[in-house]
Amino acid sequence: MKKLNFGCGHRFCSGWVNIDFNSEHPEVIAHNLLQPLPYPKDYFDIIYSSHVLEHFSKDTGEMLVKECYRVLKPQGILRIVVPDLERTCREYLRIIDSIENEEARKQYEWIIIELIDQLVRTEHGGLMKTSWRQVLENNDESSISYVEARTGVRIKEEIANNTTSLLQKVFSINQNKLRNKFKYLYIDMVKKLIPRYLRKSLIDETSLGEKHKWMYDSYSMKTLFERVGFSDIKFLDAHTSDIPNFSDEVLDINADGTVYLPGSLYCEGIKPTN
Ligand SMILES: C[S@@+](CC[C@H](N)C(=O)[O-])C[C@H]1O[C@@H](n2cnc3c(N)ncnc32)[C@H](O)[C@@H]1O
Repeated sequence: MKKLNFGCGHRFCSGWVNIDFNSEHPEVIAHNLLQPLPYPKDYFDIIYSSHVLEHFSKDTGEMLVKECYRVLKPQGILRIVVPDLERTCREYLRIIDSIENEEARKQYEWIIIELIDQLVRTEHGGLMKTSWRQVLENNDESSISYVEARTGVRIKEEIANNTTSLLQKVFSINQNKLRNKFKYLYIDMVKKLIPRYLRKSLIDETSLGEKHKWMYDSYSMKTLFERVGFSDIKFLDAHTSDIPNFSDEVLDINADGTVYLPGSLYCEGIKPTN
């Protein structure tokens, strides 16, 4: 069975074709998804992607779903996981409706970042990581639990992992990482040739894979799948899929059984047989 995971990031599995813009691991093939998928028509049985489609504009996202349709075999399954616009908006409304309440005011700080920051950030990481640090510094257990429940991230561990020592960094270097480092060094050098006062307006530091350029709810995702030609469109959850043995993969569920990215929208569709 041929399976593709596009925009896999660090979540790649053996037995799958894993692709991402950069490859730091032999299991991952470097490919820019703005280009057509480098596979023939009717090639894959399964295509999966998690938290990638929202990084493309509405039109480019649709082109990507069309590419999935082309390379899927008839009766093949496409599973797309994205942040759920409707759930985030409903949570925002729940909080703003009870803003007199102290707990709601603390949660407001996070939900407003969750809703807006990823769409507007101009620098890597935007306000999210700063906000995690703030929540940790405040040492308020209910705020920490709230953010952890929304993101599925254990923020203490995440921040500790991000503060690796120079020695750890040196030991974790491999050939692919080195190649990427040189690529970014080169890009930095080219940027420096542009006068500082023009840099911010000319260069978007978040153009690739960092910023959300569109968001989906179940209605827009269903109509997108329909327009492209998929049938049997379903909304499932992290534990449920029509993909054979999907629960054996560490994708939507972590190795410890917890949900990887809670609050996501999980959509599946089938390419019909002509
Ligand atoms: C938020 S991450 C999700 C990673 C992984 N699927 C997960 O669920 O953890 C988005 C991924 O999409 C990839 N990506 C974004 N734009 C891309 C492009 N034009 N070509 C290839 N990969 C891209 C990024 O490199 C990044 O790994």
